[in-house]
Amino acid sequence: PGGALGAAMSVFVTRRIPAEGLRVLSQASGCRVQQWDSEEPVPRAELLSRVAGTRGLLCLLSDRIDREVLDAAGPGLKVISTMSVGFDHLALDEIKKRGIRVGYTPDVLTDATAELSVALLLSACRRLLEAAQQVKSGGWTTWKPLWMCGYGLSDSTVGIIGLGRIGQAVARRLKPFGVKKFLYTGSGPKPESAAEFGAEFVPLARLAEESDFVVVTCALTPATQGMCNKDFFSRMKKTSVFVNTSRGAVVNQEDLYDALAQGQIAAAGLDVTTPEPLPTDHPLLSLKNCVILPHIGSATYATRSTMAVLAANNLLAGLRGEPMPHELKL
Ligand code: NDP
Ligand code: DGY
Repeated sequence: PGGALGAAMSVFVTRRIPAEGLRVLSQASGCRVQQWDSEEPVPRAELLSRVAGTRGLLCLLSDRIDREVLDAAGPGLKVISTMSVGFDHLALDEIKKRGIRVGYTPDVLTDATAELSVALLLSACRRLLEAAQQVKSGGWTTWKPLWMCGYGLSDSTVGIIGLGRIGQAVARRLKPFGVKKFLYTGSGPKPESAAEFGAEFVPLARLAEESDFVVVTCALTPATQGMCNKDFFSRMKKTSVFVNTSRGAVVNQEDLYDALAQGQIAAAGLDVTTPEPLPTDHPLLSLKNCVILPHIGSATYATRSTMAVLAANNLLAGLRGEPMPHELKL
């Protein structure tokens, strides 16, 4: 339905997104937009029925786009554009098999996410939330030399797991705090990226052992899933701080809980968890030395608006058979 042109450009947007992004789609000639216009995720059954017959899908990281969704969409689906740089929610093998093109949003969220990573690191190592709570609860009785002390970045060693776009942007922001040494790990050394920080490529175990701060900024892949586990935390120093702004599943949360509860590591800051949202009775939330944020790495008004516009432009370019501003190479 909708005529040849309409059918060629029918798209489904799985959520309410910044208006600037939706405007790009609705003003595109011949583009027929359907949307799940809600702050909450589209229910799975609704997604499966609404995606049927569409040519383009604009989705979020909270939508699992697997074989079931692709089957429900049918052979007409040509482009998937995710309003995220992470793509672990997309069944890329299935997508590739069907010749579907994928757009994503790298670069535009790097600064916001790196900034949040630094904020989270400082919140965890200087105990900001715990200290602010003391002010509210009357725990602040006087200035005390031994009270609310934490760990600072000056003269420290920082280990970055995944020195990609965000990992480099984090290192760039941390360097002026007086970091003495940067370590990094990944699938191989990246001398051009590392040179700016004099960062040394090391195995994961050595990064755990030597870092005062570990910042996880890698992609979630089969190789990184559960990478930060009991063995990893047991190698970290008791005075070290762990920060994750990548994906929750990179961390074994039971092992992280034990490490924090037993004082094996000093503190943690997490912007991502498994599951999301983290249930309010989750054991990690009972710990004073764990700061948990609700996946807000890219959450500045400007960044989210730019992400939405980029996701819309990726989708349109894909539908028109043109080069996308940012296409994921499958
Ligand atoms: P990049 O692709 O630039 O960086 C990803 C990094 O992951 C690469 O440097 C890669 O290293 C590394 N990596 C891959 N495999 C491994 C491994 N086995 N061990 C260690 N590192 C590995 O992506 P971005 O920096 O743009 O984004 C990174 C991730 O951050 C996204 O995939 C997303 O999940 C998350 N993210 C979270 C946000 C939030 O709101 N909290 C916001 C934005 C992104 P190599 O090149 O050596 O393979
Ligand atoms: C992403 O883009 O992958 C983040 O997790 C949210 O911006």
